[in-house]
Amino acid sequence: MAVTKVGYAALAVTDLNSAVEHYVNNVGLSITERTKTEVYLRSPGDQDHHSVVLRESSRAGLDRFGIKMGDPDDLAELETLAERAGAQVRRLPAGSEPGIGEILAFRLPSEHEVWAYHSTQNIGFAEGMDNPDPVGVDSAIGSIGAQHLDHVALCAPDIDDLSKFLIEVLDFDESEVVVAPDGKRAVTFLFCTNTMHDVAIVPGPGAGLHHVSFEGENRAAIVRAVELLRHRDVPTMAYGMTRHGLAGVTTTYFHDPSGNRNELFSGPYATPGAQGMVPPIEWEISELGRGAFYYENELDMPFMTTVT
Ligand SMILES: [Fe+2]
Repeated sequence: MAVTKVGYAALAVTDLNSAVEHYVNNVGLSITERTKTEVYLRSPGDQDHHSVVLRESSRAGLDRFGIKMGDPDDLAELETLAERAGAQVRRLPAGSEPGIGEILAFRLPSEHEVWAYHSTQNIGFAEGMDNPDPVGVDSAIGSIGAQHLDHVALCAPDIDDLSKFLIEVLDFDESEVVVAPDGKRAVTFLFCTNTMHDVAIVPGPGAGLHHVSFEGENRAAIVRAVELLRHRDVPTMAYGMTRHGLAGVTTTYFHDPSGNRNELFSGPYATPGAQGMVPPIEWEISELGRGAFYYENELDMPFMTTVT
């Protein structure tokens, strides 16, 4: 059984129109479908029908996220494993969500809703699949140029508990971990692809969203993104751009109009091998300031405590 990627993040937003405008004009996504209640979008480098879903709600946050399984038989295996781990599993027939086949729905120990699926409608890269132009699509010019959905950062009151489920049931592996004095995980980065994290877990309320992250083309793209976001008065962190010691990436964080935190980052390293081949990099919690904010060398507390 294999999770091939985090396929999409479904976000609850308090104003659908302003959210759509943000994700299209600022982030650079394009709309692939609208229903009465949801808008489906994708980044230029995402081939599946959608990588972001927006739904209007009374409060912002993460409605659910999708994981794409590598084989049709994975759904049955996952059903058995998830139930054995104590999750209540529901099957939703093909057609329940646009562009997605049969779905296995369950909640993680942290109360996050996950929809697992194998079959998707492949619509190809935005540049097309025949002789594509490397400069990109016109619709994304004028945005920060998100290339593809990269990872979701979840909040959990018990990080060990959620990590255990992702590692033992979903076959994720751990690339970097911040260890608390009691030996428990304080922050962790988990991967299921060849990049160093597909899911990050930070302390916070159950079902909480810390951020949803897109990869930028390179470090220069992050600088340009900060300037564009500032120019358009999109709420960003005070210092604009920074670098994480953990993962080593160059990054900027900003918020959609409903308060959901977004990230555009560049430079994640490739994971070193198959699951279990290499032990995770460990950080002492006393080093978390440098680990989270390498230039500033101290934790930005609103960054840790402001979540949706
Ligand atoms: Fe991130």
